[in-house]
Amino acid sequence: MKNKILVTGGCGYIGSHTVVQLIENNFEVTILDNLSNSQENVIDSIKEITGRKPYFLKCDLKNLKHLENILKYHKGFDAIIHFAAHKAVGESVQNPLMYYQNNLTGLINLLASAKKYKIDNLIFSSSATVYGKPKSLPISEKNKTQRPSSPYGNSKKVAEEIIEDLAAASKDFSAISLRYFNPIGAHKSGLIGELPTGIPNNLMPYITQTAIGLREKLMVYGNDYPTKDGTPIRDYIHVEDLADAHVKALSRLLNKNQESNFEVMNLGTGNGFSVLEVIKTFEEVTQQKLNYEITQRRAGDVPELYADAKLAEEKLNWKADRTLDEMIKSSWVWEQKARKQS
Ligand code: WQD
Repeated sequence: MKNKILVTGGCGYIGSHTVVQLIENNFEVTILDNLSNSQENVIDSIKEITGRKPYFLKCDLKNLKHLENILKYHKGFDAIIHFAAHKAVGESVQNPLMYYQNNLTGLINLLASAKKYKIDNLIFSSSATVYGKPKSLPISEKNKTQRPSSPYGNSKKVAEEIIEDLAAASKDFSAISLRYFNPIGAHKSGLIGELPTGIPNNLMPYITQTAIGLREKLMVYGNDYPTKDGTPIRDYIHVEDLADAHVKALSRLLNKNQESNFEVMNLGTGNGFSVLEVIKTFEEVTQQKLNYEITQRRAGDVPELYADAKLAEEKLNWKADRTLDEMIKSSWVWEQKARKQS
């Protein structure tokens, strides 16, 4: 009997890569997505990759009535993996209420419905941004969370606290919160990847869109940071390594191997690369010159962020092992294929 998993935001970037690995690990997957920042044809790509089509239900988690109706008729989920949320840092600064409404009301509705329909296991998509500006590096789960610099980041921090409080109040409910560092890359088939709507906020899609001619040049936000080459350092992790960690965390929950009913784990490689190192690697991997210009710092950026990934490696028997070259190459293959399709 296959375990049935509900994946909210499963048409999105990290969600779709996780759905592929869930199907390949013999889980039965239902995607719940409002398609506000993704496309339904991702489902066809998932079928092309895995040979199986996940069930798809269009639903906005802010619509509690609709969500409850769905869970009333689609019974027997063993766990939920919750990706559905807005995630643009800059947009959240401009429109904090939209972020708290979407990310937190959506979460609370999901938790209330899960409780009502006895779905006792949750994997939550969180972010290293909950650590705020780190006082020490590498960042471990022992680091205290601090107020993030954006409403997006704060919505993730508050979401974790809501889940933690629910776990403290309901012993039969178990959750693992996965704190991502910087997910980049795409599935090796080139059939799914990151498809930001509008102007990309993040470095990697901006690089590939510049290289393919969609953007005139990449602005490098500052080279006067206290780092080896003056540009900020981040812990880039391949989205397929990230997806693998979700499957491992889910098995930990389903096999009841947790040490407590609320755990948090960093998902990073433990290595940091600067912006200029990413650009240089892109040029080497693709043999393409990248047009970029050094400009002012971006508000809210910190000089350096990279993970102590030991806890997830130990508890999940998982390790991010794809290289920066592989991350960048897969992003480039995806960008070229995605543009051909559009
Ligand atoms: C990386 C580096 C920029 C764009 C954010 C969120 C995090 C997660 C990942 C959602 C920084 C520089 C970027 C550009 C640049 N988001 N950069 N020019 O800010 O580390 O993390 O995205 O889940 O929660 O906080 O990622 O890719 O935006 O930036 O120079 O056009 O690239 O200054 O140093 P970030 P990023």
